[in-house]
Amino acid sequence: MAEILENVSLRNLNTFGIESKARYFSRPKTRDELISLLRQRHPAGLQKRVLGGGSNILITGDVDALVIRYDDASMNVVRETDEHVWLRVGGGHNWHELVVRCIETGLAGIENLSLIPGNVGAAPIQNIGAYGVELAEVFDSLEAVDLGSGEVHSYRSDECAFGYRDSIFKNREKGRYLITDVVFRLNRKPDFRLDYGDIRSTLGAMGVETITIGAVSEAVCRIRRSKLPDPAKLGNAGSFFKNPVVSEEVFEKLRALYPEMPGYPSTPDMVKIPAGWLIEKSGWKGRRIGQTGSHEKQALVIVNYGQATGTEILDLSAGIVADVSSNFGITLVPEVNIW
Ligand code: EPU
Repeated sequence: MAEILENVSLRNLNTFGIESKARYFSRPKTRDELISLLRQRHPAGLQKRVLGGGSNILITGDVDALVIRYDDASMNVVRETDEHVWLRVGGGHNWHELVVRCIETGLAGIENLSLIPGNVGAAPIQNIGAYGVELAEVFDSLEAVDLGSGEVHSYRSDECAFGYRDSIFKNREKGRYLITDVVFRLNRKPDFRLDYGDIRSTLGAMGVETITIGAVSEAVCRIRRSKLPDPAKLGNAGSFFKNPVVSEEVFEKLRALYPEMPGYPSTPDMVKIPAGWLIEKSGWKGRRIGQTGSHEKQALVIVNYGQATGTEILDLSAGIVADVSSNFGITLVPEVNIW
């Protein structure tokens, strides 16, 4: 039975490193433990909130809820063919450790997603993506426990409404579930994605002649380490905002004003503009206000210089949104979850 603790500090459980207290806190290790935790008698109206790796969240005050951190990090092969291996992974498994284990066992498909912080259970919620690959490409299905009823529900890939940093679990089903298991369909034969950003040039600089999933993973790790601050040293939650997606028409109008504005094809007739560029051009890159600021190497990342509160970070993000909106007419939307 998972113990319920009271007034627990969440400071070491969120990568922004923000101090906050959870009214109740519990860490079930198995699905059965989770279900019995949910079915216990709780004070009337008690909210239940799921905390994963704490790497995509901004906490803006104490949390008057039962905060659940799911710790099942199991991993099992559930099916194999000559081409694919289906791996079932517990929602509490650290994401990057999964990537490393896949590389060690020769399973391809998530090497470009190396070093993304967080846990497996959170990965489908925002359809994590990096360097030209999204989780949706290797996702088979998931199982989730309804926080209200304790019932287990399954979702196949086509039922998750995956989009850019988006899924049904961020919209219609927001806050309803704790994702306990994810099944991935991994490839025995790699399909290398090397065209995003600096991957090829980094592989070249590493002196790689024969490309392997291990080499691609190492290149991605090097690029990330060179741009993204290590949360262990400088609190942050990766990209704070999503990259805005605008129509080609809007993009062309903006391009006429700012010929150097970058844009990448998104869904048909839509263009994704890097929010980092918009923030940098609005004068925020590297700008610090008190204990928080936009990172000097990647404007899209907001950092905690040590003692920032969640509201200070939220206020800074509002300043960025206001300036980008008045300069470009684009409203940035946070990528991080705000509690
Ligand atoms: N840029 C600037 N100034 C900056 C930062 C970026 O001008 O300060 C422009 C440059 O033109 C650069 C372009 O933005 O070429 C893209 O930058 P980058 O490759 O760093 O990627 P991003 O679009 O800023 C996205 C993801 C990251 C992911 C990288 C790599 C989102 C919201 N973020 O960032 O994901 O690692 O691509 O694939 O889609 C995260 O979700 O937390 C995250 C870090």
